[in-house]
Amino acid sequence: LTSTKVKPGNDVTDKYCREKTIENIMKVYSEDWIEQEDYITQLRSELSSKCKGVFNAIVTQTNSPLGSNIRYDAEKRITKVTPKLFDTFVKDSPFVNKTFKTCSVVGNGGILANSSCGEEIDSAQFVIRCNLAPVGSGYRRDVGTKTNLVTSNPSILVDKFGSLMEHRRSFMERLDTFGDSLVLMPTFAYRKNTAVTLRVLYTVHDFESPARPVFMNPEYIRNLARFWVTRGLKKRLSTGMMMASLALELCDEVHLYGFWPYPQHPRDCRPLTNHYYDDVKAKSIHAMPVEFNRLLQLHSLGVIRLHLEDCS
Ligand code: CDP
Repeated sequence: LTSTKVKPGNDVTDKYCREKTIENIMKVYSEDWIEQEDYITQLRSELSSKCKGVFNAIVTQTNSPLGSNIRYDAEKRITKVTPKLFDTFVKDSPFVNKTFKTCSVVGNGGILANSSCGEEIDSAQFVIRCNLAPVGSGYRRDVGTKTNLVTSNPSILVDKFGSLMEHRRSFMERLDTFGDSLVLMPTFAYRKNTAVTLRVLYTVHDFESPARPVFMNPEYIRNLARFWVTRGLKKRLSTGMMMASLALELCDEVHLYGFWPYPQHPRDCRPLTNHYYDDVKAKSIHAMPVEFNRLLQLHSLGVIRLHLEDCS
């Protein structure tokens, strides 16, 4: 990666290489990463005391008892935990008393296409993926298959799976590729999220799928937002940033793959799609390049390992 070539051109897609954005990033990025345990411990203890992801990332019957109020994180709304809603919550957090030695957090960036990183990603003890991104046969070599936790945004459920209002076979086929992993959904972000994510849970139960649907705790999302706002991240955090933060609490070593918000490859400036599986552009509410800079800084400090190189 030392030889990032800047190929001159006038194309707008060539902008990041032409304007040396990528060259400057690659000056900061070092492949010779050295883990700094002190920094890792420090960030982990700050995250654990301020955000408490181990106990609070997921809505549980313990942190959200019957009769309590749940306050949505993306709009002004409160819902009461009725017996029916309470029944949909897991009893306790699956993360209590668990620390993983190594974790892979897989972002969906196009940088993963042709990366051959599948095996390396899968070698981690705990693998987190985002947005039900495909892991099937055509993607195995580049992104692997192992999954312990996968997130699902309602937009995927609405756009790709008809909001689970009609046939649900294609949804179940996608879900089957994630085995018995946790399926984490932002049920209490916006009102419109609630019904569709509850339908995921009912579908999983009806079809006796081994998948384990769980709901993101809006309290945790608020705490994370507060945590990162003082560290320069002012916009709503992307799913990947939330998962990297959770991994920092759960794992001794956090490896990030597929985090690269630019449309050109860091090594040779070749054009990249936004995702490794399609070219649907990022939502403007997130500020991925700003988040990326933060992650790059954590990489430089030896706190997380950001993988921008191909694997062999
Ligand atoms: O749901 P969201 O729009 O946040 O994410 P996505 O497009 O499904 O991708 C999952 C995550 O991968 C994002 O939240 C980002 O953190 C990361 N990502 C990236 O760093 N670079 C890209 N080109 C695409 C995604």
